[in-house]
Amino acid sequence: MVCVINPFEFASIVVLTGAGISAESGLQTFRGSGGLWEGRRVQEVATPEAFARDPTLVHKFYNARRRQLVATAQPNAAHRALAGFQRAFRGNFLLVTQNVDNLHEQGGSEGVLHMHGELLKARCVATAAVFSAPLDIDVETPCPCCRVAGNVRPHVVWFGEMPLHMAAIEAALQGSDLFIAIGTSGQVYPAAGFVQLAKAAGATTVELNLEPSEGHSYFDHAHYGRATDMVAEFFAAH
Ligand code: OAD
Repeated sequence: MVCVINPFEFASIVVLTGAGISAESGLQTFRGSGGLWEGRRVQEVATPEAFARDPTLVHKFYNARRRQLVATAQPNAAHRALAGFQRAFRGNFLLVTQNVDNLHEQGGSEGVLHMHGELLKARCVATAAVFSAPLDIDVETPCPCCRVAGNVRPHVVWFGEMPLHMAAIEAALQGSDLFIAIGTSGQVYPAAGFVQLAKAAGATTVELNLEPSEGHSYFDHAHYGRATDMVAEFFAAH
């Protein structure tokens, strides 16, 4: 990859990551062959209606993912490169992720905004209090907040729900001069629209992905390949 962009020359950077950055850590992406949504209807496990209809099935889906994260997944070179850049960079830097894993934090990133929630957290459906998730949640799990069994839900954003931290993200995009999307298919809004918000603010836009995303034409620069190769190279000290 020969990149004409030197991120150290910018003042205010927003990075958006998706499942592609964690793929080489062994976590499945959502779309495409072998993806989490392949052969599964999203509506069955990732909507409030699914949780109301069959909470046991929904808990099983997220318990399996939580167990896999805790048991096997380690941050990769792309997660570490972002953290290293954040430590070295003197300007404003915001890392927004659609991922519910904690690999950015394990890789050393700080202040990460998880717009689709976090697998290692759970929430009370009655009070909205957020707390550490046990490894397995089921309909019998007593809520640490209100003590009611059945009131614990994964702290993840389901389809039809409002993503988290949107005001802070939009403010950062409006003030950004460089926006970089990494490992996301650009199929899920509002994240898929961040490139347009950044462009409207005058930012240079860069896509680092395995293949052109849905919104690839909005990016000024694009590099296609594996995140572990490209992210380290892009953020290397110039
Ligand atoms: P997707 O599965 O839609 O897209 C993953 C992207 O990563 C694809 O464009 C792949 O080509 C790319 N990719 C795969 N392996 C890669 C690698 N090693 N290096 C670089 N890129 C790679 O995942 P997201 O875009 O994150 O939301 O999906 C967005 C949201 O849809 C998720 O947060 C989730 C899902 O439904 C909710 O559950 C609310």
